Amino acid sequence: MKIVAYTAEMPESVCNLIGSSFKMRRAPLRGRPLDEFLTAVESAAALIVAPGDPVDATCIAALPETIQLIASYSVGLDHVDAGAARRRGIAVSNTPDVLTEATADIAMLLILSALRGVSDAERMLRAGEWKGWAPDRIFGSDLSGRLLGIAGPGRIGAATAKRASAFGMRLAYWGRKESDVMNALGAEPLLDLDVFLGAIDVMSLHLPSTEQTRQFLNQGTISAMRKGAVVVNTARGDLIDDDALVAALHEGRIAGAGLDVFAGEPALHKGYLSAPNVTLLPHIGSATSETRLAMGRSVFDSLKHHLAE
Ligand code: DGY
Repeated sequence: MKIVAYTAEMPESVCNLIGSSFKMRRAPLRGRPLDEFLTAVESAAALIVAPGDPVDATCIAALPETIQLIASYSVGLDHVDAGAARRRGIAVSNTPDVLTEATADIAMLLILSALRGVSDAERMLRAGEWKGWAPDRIFGSDLSGRLLGIAGPGRIGAATAKRASAFGMRLAYWGRKESDVMNALGAEPLLDLDVFLGAIDVMSLHLPSTEQTRQFLNQGTISAMRKGAVVVNTARGDLIDDDALVAALHEGRIAGAGLDVFAGEPALHKGYLSAPNVTLLPHIGSATSETRLAMGRSVFDSLKHHLAE
């Protein structure tokens, strides 16, 4: 049986599935010395990695000759230097499609939470500060009629827009080119970034993390947005300049945020913890049992495909 090394614990059913065809070997990478990791991956035919694993050029250059595939248990591949892998003749795979709906659910939850001030309301209740219903207790604003701006109209962006439309939100998007799927949902293409930023009430980030998109939301883009707009991020933490967003939240320039991902996670900018009206989640976009199993099946299919005799 070929050996498959894996960096992060996987659901038991996925281990059983992969273990039915391959010999599994645990090889933690994140926060571990590279030497230890390299010993663990010796003679492996493939490596299963996860977001946050530093599969950079140094790591890839040191991998044994036997490695044919790096399979990521994720759709995002920003933690893998795919170019370095390609140069060594190592294939790279991810798990597209299967996590679209689960991640869009979390994006919608964060839009709802940020607009309706859910985190503040719950915090007040838990702190024993609730004095009962009162007309002046106002937590947020209506979704209906608000303009949702999807930055990055790919699969998850479109699935989020579809949900938001059912809540009566109007839709717009920004990307490199027009999207037929978004247009069919009635979303307005606002491909000029300044026009997009100045028009929307809510921004939901769905861009991949690349050199070009890093810190897409920064002091400049925030000041081009309407005062009181809301920001949601279920894509990658480094799309946001945290200092700029934290300052804008404390000043009230940005009225709320919903964040599932953070630059440098699991650490996060401390300013978020004291900022008003921010919902913070620990990167759970794809974390349903059904979706994580589907992602595992997708990893298994890649292993079968690439390691076939
Ligand atoms: C991915 O697959 O890239 C997600 O961020 C994991 O939930």
